[in-house]
Amino acid sequence: MWLFSRKGPSGFSSSSTAEEVTQGIDGTGLTAIVTGASSGIGTETTRVLALRGVHVIMGVRNMAAGKDVKQAIVKEIPTAKVDAMELDLSSMASVKKFASDFSSSGRRLNLLINNAGIMATPFMLSKDNIELQFATNHIGHFLLTNLLLDTMKKTARASKREGRIINVSSEAHRYTYKEGIHFDKINDKSGYSSFAAYGQSKLANVLHANELARRLKEDGVEITANSLHPGTIATNIFRRMGIVDGLVNIFGRVALKNVQQGAATTCYVALHPQVKGKTGEYFKDSNIGEASAHGRNVELAKKLWDVSMKMVK
Ligand SMILES: NC(=O)c1ccc[n+]([C@@H]2O[C@H](COP(=O)([O-])OP(=O)(O)OC[C@H]3O[C@@H](n4cnc5c(N)ncnc54)[C@H](OP(=O)(O)O)[C@@H]3O)[C@@H](O)[C@H]2O)c1
Repeated sequence: MWLFSRKGPSGFSSSSTAEEVTQGIDGTGLTAIVTGASSGIGTETTRVLALRGVHVIMGVRNMAAGKDVKQAIVKEIPTAKVDAMELDLSSMASVKKFASDFSSSGRRLNLLINNAGIMATPFMLSKDNIELQFATNHIGHFLLTNLLLDTMKKTARASKREGRIINVSSEAHRYTYKEGIHFDKINDKSGYSSFAAYGQSKLANVLHANELARRLKEDGVEITANSLHPGTIATNIFRRMGIVDGLVNIFGRVALKNVQQGAATTCYVALHPQVKGKTGEYFKDSNIGEASAHGRNVELAKKLWDVSMKMVK
């Protein structure tokens, strides 16, 4: 609960806002992609990165909503560089098109913020026949990251600036299936639990960042990969959840983080000089935290990488 927050070693706490954790940082010359920027944490992340001079490309599935967000940001910050591009993370064809359009635009890419997400949905399969939460929250971002990695590497080399990849996970990664990732049953309706499947997809965000960090380090590439928990914030993500949504909206306004605080850890990890060189970490409240035992399991991360590679082929 942010009301009783204490500052961590970074000097920030759960009550710090995205503007506070990026105060005085100049992001001019940087380009970022923020997925799921059409609402909630993604919108605020986009606004604050743009405020700091970063050119932000919003990856959104609803272009009309993306346009509205862009207009609102530019109205508030006339110098903001914000663009929207269509991206449906639950469809590999859409992810491939987005990545190919981005790459052929010749743009540089310094920051990739894998933020979009859905939570606790009833059992559904994506267009590619993958359980929808796993498809949207993990596989879409896994594929997107792989397809943009060359551009990020070229940018890091040319600009001599560290690239940063950030997976917006959740403390819910602790509440997954017993074995962590249900490898043999990812797409099975039997035994499906909407909450455990959300936890599984958020655990996948942590493991993906960790294994990516290990690989990038091994290759000597100047790009970091980290995951984070943004806090609990009353956003649209609770909208499908009936009574939970009601409770979050009643108590959330006073007891949970607001969206300005909810975007803080993402903006801190994206821009703060304190984070330079930090990779394979799990952040919380703009400080380094500790992921669950499954989240720190190197073998599980490698296995997830191999399984994900097969799924995107
Ligand atoms: N809010 C919390 O308490 C909380 C706690 C822990 C972690 N998180 C994580 O924070 C991230 C942001 O969530 P939020 O709270 O800001 O929720 P939100 O307001 O619902 O935002 C989620 C964003 O993801 C987008 N999205 C969903 N499915 C997509 C798809 N198939 N393709 C492209 N974009 C898609 C949504 O687009 P539409 O507008 O088109 O639906 C929306 O822009 C998520 O990864 C979530 O797991 C949130």
